[in-house]
Amino acid sequence: MFFPSLRPRRLRAKSYIRDLVRETRLTAADVILPLFIVSGEGVEEPISSLPGVHHHSVDKALEFIRPLAKLGLRGIILFGLPDQKDHEGSEAWNPEGPVQRACTAFKKEFPHLVIMTDVCLCQYTDHGHCGELCDGEVLNDPSLNRLALTALSHAVAGADVVAPSDMMDGRVGAIREALERANYPDVSILSYAVKYASAFYGPFREAADSAPGKGDRKGYQMDPANRREALREARLDIHEGADMLMVKPALSYLDIIADLRREFDYPLAAYHVSGEYSMVKAAAERGWVDEKQIMLEVLTSIKRAGADFIITYAAGDLCRWLQDD
Ligand code: PBG
Repeated sequence: MFFPSLRPRRLRAKSYIRDLVRETRLTAADVILPLFIVSGEGVEEPISSLPGVHHHSVDKALEFIRPLAKLGLRGIILFGLPDQKDHEGSEAWNPEGPVQRACTAFKKEFPHLVIMTDVCLCQYTDHGHCGELCDGEVLNDPSLNRLALTALSHAVAGADVVAPSDMMDGRVGAIREALERANYPDVSILSYAVKYASAFYGPFREAADSAPGKGDRKGYQMDPANRREALREARLDIHEGADMLMVKPALSYLDIIADLRREFDYPLAAYHVSGEYSMVKAAAERGWVDEKQIMLEVLTSIKRAGADFIITYAAGDLCRWLQDD
């Protein structure tokens, strides 16, 4: 059968018919909002490279989330900015650090909000690398214990999910073992399994003050040119005990999201990263694109590619837009 019997426009002619046959739907339950936590009280400082995103002290972060939790926001992922940095990044596992205090406070006030933490050392080291630095080289194995300590401190503080983003080999296994040994068997690991060495992280590094002093992250994060390697990375992390997988960034890596969706039956996250978000904001500020429409289109495409949930700075906006519609 062909035209005129077949007319795809029939299903597009009315908004309620389009709604009936829509294949992908975005909801507030699909998104996780990143928060940047600092010490102190009463702090709510806008981050210039990420419009609409702030450095929050714990009290202000709770205040910020209250209306969004009412709108059905699924969860948050916490990043910490320590008061001091050192060579080892030892503030990362300080039980009184901003992230640890936030975990406890959030779990208390919002027991049904998913509390995730980013596990990495780059915000905490004075050299800005994600692991132990020696003679200009980021050493893999000595970094594992520190990452495991950090993840464990988040679990102790009340995190539901720990998400290692450092890209050291073996870190998922080290974290799983530490959680088991300390009797936290129910804390999940969301592995940043497929994390590319991407220029899209630019605005985040200003937000988290985590740019490497010297060098770059190409020695540990993945080469953006590689597709098959993503499956190997994901497989390794599953073997080490990851409960969920992540692809990061999202929009330039929709093929990778689709590959992982096809290959694995594990929950899949995508991180719509700082550069992807800020480019839309900047273009919208100039009146070149419609912010709401383009953000909805981008997030829908990430979900359509196969992501089960999306970490995005637009999570709050999304909750509000869906409410207005
Ligand atoms: C820490 C980390 C980074 C991001 C998440 N966790 C920065 C990096 O790897 O350089 C980037 C998030 C974003 O750009 O929004 N390693």
